[in-house]
Amino acid sequence: MKRLLVILFAFALLFGCEQKKDVIKIGVAGPMTGPQAKMGEDFKNAVQLAVEEWNQAGGLLGKKIEIIVGDDQADPKQAVSVANKFVIEGAAGILGHFNSSCSIPASDVYNRAGIPMITPASTNPVLTERGYKNVFRVCGRDDQQGYVAAKFVIDNLRLKKAAVLHDKTTYGQGLADEFKKSLGDAVDVVYYGGVSIGEKDFRTVLTTIKTKRPELLYFGGIYPEAGMLVKQAREIGLDAKFMSGDGAIDPLFIQIAGKASEGAYFTFSPDPEHIPSARSFIEKYKKRFGELGPYSIYAYDAANILFAAIKEANTTDGKIISERLHSMTFSGALGAISFDEKGDVAKSPYIVWTAKDGKFVEFWRP
Ligand code: ALA
Repeated sequence: MKRLLVILFAFALLFGCEQKKDVIKIGVAGPMTGPQAKMGEDFKNAVQLAVEEWNQAGGLLGKKIEIIVGDDQADPKQAVSVANKFVIEGAAGILGHFNSSCSIPASDVYNRAGIPMITPASTNPVLTERGYKNVFRVCGRDDQQGYVAAKFVIDNLRLKKAAVLHDKTTYGQGLADEFKKSLGDAVDVVYYGGVSIGEKDFRTVLTTIKTKRPELLYFGGIYPEAGMLVKQAREIGLDAKFMSGDGAIDPLFIQIAGKASEGAYFTFSPDPEHIPSARSFIEKYKKRFGELGPYSIYAYDAANILFAAIKEANTTDGKIISERLHSMTFSGALGAISFDEKGDVAKSPYIVWTAKDGKFVEFWRP
């Protein structure tokens, strides 16, 4: 019986592939459901735009591009399942994942299968430090981001006492650690600890932190927890400045935190509204989907780079596409993008933003 099922499954796969020979499949992965679903939605929307543009212009290698969506629910185990599913379905390339905790284990699967992967948003250094030739990111890294955050706190805020919290994930803890490391002896870290993803009540830990009288509360994590943290900090009378990273700078942070979001600081890349080459994408995206998410434009560029590499390589052979990606300079919505030998972008500036009157605005450059 078991053998029969295996044979049937193999036939189903073969038949499926046979029917779909006229398409090039691209996997789009991220949290499509759950508290971080907005990030998956942003990826999907941006990639959809890129795919439509390529398909309208004739497709890729004479075929239409087809998106297959994988919901990793921001969960590392789900991310591995999604990755295996993409391999079985014959994806020629992957755009994703969002969370470093998902991108890193999923990239093991893609590496074994030789499929190129470009993440728009995963910033943990480990992702590109393992010598994988098929792994790329169009965003910066948390060693750069943590350094800029610390420089801002030391040079601009000139604070002396900070509390450092993280969400115990690869990204959140990694960023908090980079920040703490870069503070060195200049700032006294009076509290360091983790909270759990999905937690809703942080009053106990915030009350402990309040007794340490920090001037800054730094959080390595994503907007659902970041928003609740700053809201509840203000509720219990902890008025330390609040700072976080790229994972928290989404309008949903402001929605969750309400008035408590005012004056919060974030490290992120500069505003694409000021980048001339981004104009046409921004216009199209807004018309179709509304406001850009923080990583919409990164997902769009990641898609276009991948498609351009497949076109130039003139094959869906993952090894050849990855070699192309390593050698090309792509003119994207964000400007010129090229990858170093690790798969990191050559240029990734971080600046500090702040929340002002319910909006994010650029605030400080290192
Ligand atoms: N930059 C965040 C991460 O790496 C989204 O998980």
